[in-house]
Amino acid sequence: MRVFVTRQLTDGAASAMGDLPASVEVFEGGGAPDRSELLEGARGAAALLTMVTDEVDEAVLDAAGDDLRIVANHAVGVDNIDLAAAAERGVVVTHTPGVLDEAVADLTFGLVLATSRRIGEADRMVRSGTPWVWGPRVLIGLDLSAGATLGIVGLGRIGMAVARRARAFGMRILATGSRASSAEARDLGVEPADLGALLDASDVVSLHCPLTDSTRHLIGAAELRRMRPGAILINTARGRVVDEAALVAALGDGTIAAAGLDVFEHEPQVHPGLLKLDNVVLAPHIGSAGEATRDRMGQLAIDNIAAVLTGKDPLTPVSA
Ligand code: GLV
Repeated sequence: MRVFVTRQLTDGAASAMGDLPASVEVFEGGGAPDRSELLEGARGAAALLTMVTDEVDEAVLDAAGDDLRIVANHAVGVDNIDLAAAAERGVVVTHTPGVLDEAVADLTFGLVLATSRRIGEADRMVRSGTPWVWGPRVLIGLDLSAGATLGIVGLGRIGMAVARRARAFGMRILATGSRASSAEARDLGVEPADLGALLDASDVVSLHCPLTDSTRHLIGAAELRRMRPGAILINTARGRVVDEAALVAALGDGTIAAAGLDVFEHEPQVHPGLLKLDNVVLAPHIGSAGEATRDRMGQLAIDNIAAVLTGKDPLTPVSA
């Protein structure tokens, strides 16, 4: 049996690969395998350990063939995998929920602070040698603790971790999603809202929904117009949840004040309009990039593979 791992894992996770009941081939190229390298690596594999950037479609599943038992995604999101095609072929799909919530919430709040207090602009101003002197009106931003409202779109495990941070900052918290009416959410002071009401009332809107057919371009021109003129959009979910061209326009004409983005519609390409704007903070999809978190993600993916290859139930299957 052979396991194909599409990227070098962190050291903490890589050491666990020795326990797998199979030979392990790790993609050795510098970055991600291209299409033909992915198809070639998948050939005859019993397990694939994949990343968000690997498009696991029918062709990849068929390249692996009848030996393939599991696709273990090194991510909580599984929009890169054709789940129906995997199910048709009896292939188990797993992901890494739970182990990355705090890391993604930290990065989310980093972007909330960077945009609300204009840290990117401040850094560029100082770094460029622009003359400056302390002044009451210099780089004025939004006070989170002065009654600002955070709107969490898609309150799940990660959204809940973001809500805990927002509560510590004294923010009012609105959220969409069935979990917004749970006792856990109520205890955190979360108020359930539909998307329209949330957009109307929030100073900061943070996206935490998975990418599905119903969330693709959930935030487009109309939704951006519905946000407050001083509002900030944060996206650490998936780029395609936002219509990026509409966002560029909204940031450029003052429809909204700023955005903090860890994900992009055509990743790793970034809309050229975003690169020209000063009121955007950009990160290269590093939401879960804490060392311990990445160790846990890799370990969980490996544990799922070990379970399935030894005839046990996967630990964290993707529910169909
Ligand atoms: C990262 O984007 C993930 O889905 O874990």
